[in-house]
Amino acid sequence: MHIELPANTLLAGNKYRIERMLGKGGFGITYLGTQTLLNRKVAIKEFFMSDFCSRDNSSSLVTMSSDVNTEKVNTYRKKFLKEARTIAALNHPHIVKVIDVFEENGTAYYAMEYISDTSVQDYMKEHGPLSEAQALSIIRQVGEALSFIHSQKFLHLDVKPSNIMLRSMDDAVLIDFGISKHYTDTGSQTSTSTSGISRGYAPMEQYKEGGVASFTPATDVYSLGASLYAMLIGKRPPEAQDVFQNGLPPMPSTISASTIEAVLAAMRPAKVDRPQSVDQFLLMLEGTVKPSGGGATNMRSIIEGHEAVGEYKEAYNLCLECIRKGNDVEYAQDKCKTLIPLMRKKNKSHGRWMYVWAVVITIAGLILSIIIGINQ
Ligand SMILES: Nc1ncnc2c1ncn2[C@@H]1O[C@H](COP(=O)(O)OP(=O)(O)O)[C@@H](O)[C@H]1O
Ligand SMILES: [Mg+2]
Repeated sequence: MHIELPANTLLAGNKYRIERMLGKGGFGITYLGTQTLLNRKVAIKEFFMSDFCSRDNSSSLVTMSSDVNTEKVNTYRKKFLKEARTIAALNHPHIVKVIDVFEENGTAYYAMEYISDTSVQDYMKEHGPLSEAQALSIIRQVGEALSFIHSQKFLHLDVKPSNIMLRSMDDAVLIDFGISKHYTDTGSQTSTSTSGISRGYAPMEQYKEGGVASFTPATDVYSLGASLYAMLIGKRPPEAQDVFQNGLPPMPSTISASTIEAVLAAMRPAKVDRPQSVDQFLLMLEGTVKPSGGGATNMRSIIEGHEAVGEYKEAYNLCLECIRKGNDVEYAQDKCKTLIPLMRKKNKSHGRWMYVWAVVITIAGLILSIIIGINQ
């Protein structure tokens, strides 16, 4: 059974015709379509949560695989429509243009300008790494788009080469706002969950349960730096945890020092150590601004790294050391307050498992002694 709409399906009262599927993610299916009256290509995204939805192939209707998930799916569908409207309001030369939003087949759709059939990822697959000049030109354009998005209190949260389309080699467009989020003036988020982590491009904070509350523009800065790294070496960077533990594998020596320094700064594990805005990162790439050594906040970076991978005790001990030495005391005290309940929770679940194991071993022992007793 196909979950995607078949070719020639008509949508929005014959306004659009589906040609073929372009891609399929956890939340949606993207199609190449034709806007019939203008006879021009469009990209159409359909809301389809593959884990919870199925399709009646005879009618194209999207159905829920179980009633239990209906509420969840409806909430996400509303979010999908809201995001479409938000992108539609983001008018920028390097952000994909949304031209229409509609509901049909028991689900939601938005139509976009069709950019081309080549993403930066596709280009890399075919040609290998980009030249430094090409990579920088693309990153500058995507950076301008991100800077604009941030000024509208919005974060993209999924910047990576497959979400950057190329109108031409010197005209890049940012797409796929599927997990983007609003954030308030103080930098805290209005939403509490995220899903879909792009390995190699997502920073540590995106792996943390409930981490969404702490996302800032520096979260997108990491992914932009990681995308530049990928373009320069021709493959996906290691995952954030690996970068935290082992650092980044070296970039070719032909790459300029300012680019290497900027990438290393953008991909620092702790967001406080990264350039705090995309504009600052772009200035670093130009060599106008030098990255700080990250030394003053290096300890924060190590503490948050341990925290992100669930090593709360190690993080806590480092905080105590900071307090003892009088370094960054306020930060360390605040961090202790968040780490204590996390340590307790971890110990409790550890204790519960020990208890379960003790019961299992006792029952196994009893069964064994009964069997031995019967055999004698
Ligand atoms: N506006 C567009 N123009 C051309 N191709 C597009 C457009 N939007 C998406 N695509 C193609 O469809 C693929 C999937 O779309 P995307 O929005 O990234 O969804 P997801 O990654 O969630 O499946 C992209 O990688 C790209 O190849
Ligand atoms: Mg995508």
